[in-house]
Amino acid sequence: MIIRHASQLVCVAEHGERTKTKLGARDLSVIQNGAVVIHDERIQWVGHSSDLPPIPPDAEVLDATGKIVLPGFIDSHTHLVYAGTREDEFEQRLQGRTYQEIAAGGGGINATVQQVRKASKKELKESTRRRLHRLLSFGVTAVEIKSGYGLNLKDELKCLEVVAELNQEGPWELVATFLGAHAVPSEFRDKREGYVRLILDEMLPEVAQRGLAQFCDVFCEEGAFTLEETERILIRASELGLRGKIHADELSPLGGAELAGRLGAISADHLLCITEAGIETLSRSQTVATLLPGTAFFLGLDYAPARELIQAGVPVALASDCNPGTCPTENLPLIGSLACTQMKMLPAEVVSALTLNAAAALDRSDRLGSIEVGKQADLIICDVPDYRQLFYHFGVSHVWRVIKRGRVVYAA
Ligand code: NIG
Ligand code: FE
Repeated sequence: MIIRHASQLVCVAEHGERTKTKLGARDLSVIQNGAVVIHDERIQWVGHSSDLPPIPPDAEVLDATGKIVLPGFIDSHTHLVYAGTREDEFEQRLQGRTYQEIAAGGGGINATVQQVRKASKKELKESTRRRLHRLLSFGVTAVEIKSGYGLNLKDELKCLEVVAELNQEGPWELVATFLGAHAVPSEFRDKREGYVRLILDEMLPEVAQRGLAQFCDVFCEEGAFTLEETERILIRASELGLRGKIHADELSPLGGAELAGRLGAISADHLLCITEAGIETLSRSQTVATLLPGTAFFLGLDYAPARELIQAGVPVALASDCNPGTCPTENLPLIGSLACTQMKMLPAEVVSALTLNAAAALDRSDRLGSIEVGKQADLIICDVPDYRQLFYHFGVSHVWRVIKRGRVVYAA
């Protein structure tokens, strides 16, 4: 396949770098009147349309005149496998109740857990598949999905099996994260150590042994899991081959970012309440800061300090956090618009955050996240002439074609 005459071919990187940081994050390696040649699911050639090698007669040629080509977006933090909805809590928050008050009263994560436990695998698969199609329509070609609404062995496995089966089905590429430590389920309310032991002794070994997740995440928060519990869980996970992620400093400055940096977690996520010490620790680590401004927007909270993180040299990724409680949306470009207007990220920094840095948050930047020779051909063609319009003309999808592993898998 050949794509040519793109008004901007937004390569994002050209030297095989793992992440885009500091001033590099706003340098996207854009080629005007650009072209890409794809062969066997991979990018074979990148350059100006006028320098294209001869076109074989059987090649599929896409004319991108007036359009832009980018790497497929990567949503590196979602809770996509769930059942039921929580618009009642949305309305309660509008009347002044906080997320934490609702959770302490039996709502929140545990409300969705009740629904997920009742749902069949088939039902969960169908609703998750619908959400994945919607993500695809917004240009998302790879998606991280967390468990965390089962909170017992059987139902956590059910959710992770949904992810594995939908990954097989495609056309998307899914990455599973075990989030058994999302909340203490109600049956363990008065014996939380029992639940931590269940995670350490039964859930993690089974998930690892069956290869059902690549990462392990913990909601490190007052009312969820302490720093000490988070550390025990992530150390056990790492012994079993699962790299750590942390829901860190989301609602209070507990120190999750420092712990993520110290443990070498692949990412520290949310960070609305990160402290200066947290930023400093992350800047000395390889950990990616994954920001989720849709959650701050939907809960009416202050946003994460994106500028300070970028200034400190921390690689910043952006993701949707798509979940039924704190951010029910699949519109990843809208998250980019929020990052611009609310966190003062530049459109170029947002593109880096939705592509290469998101790939790094999933340990995949050797294969995904930029348009470079040898990388997997996951591309989107958007019907705007300038990448800044993706976030400027906000709230709609500009995607014209989605290409996954060298095949057109979505057409607007
Ligand atoms: O990322 N913080 C924890 N987990 C989700 C919320 C999940 C829920 O409320 O259902 C989040 O915000
Ligand atoms: Fe989350």
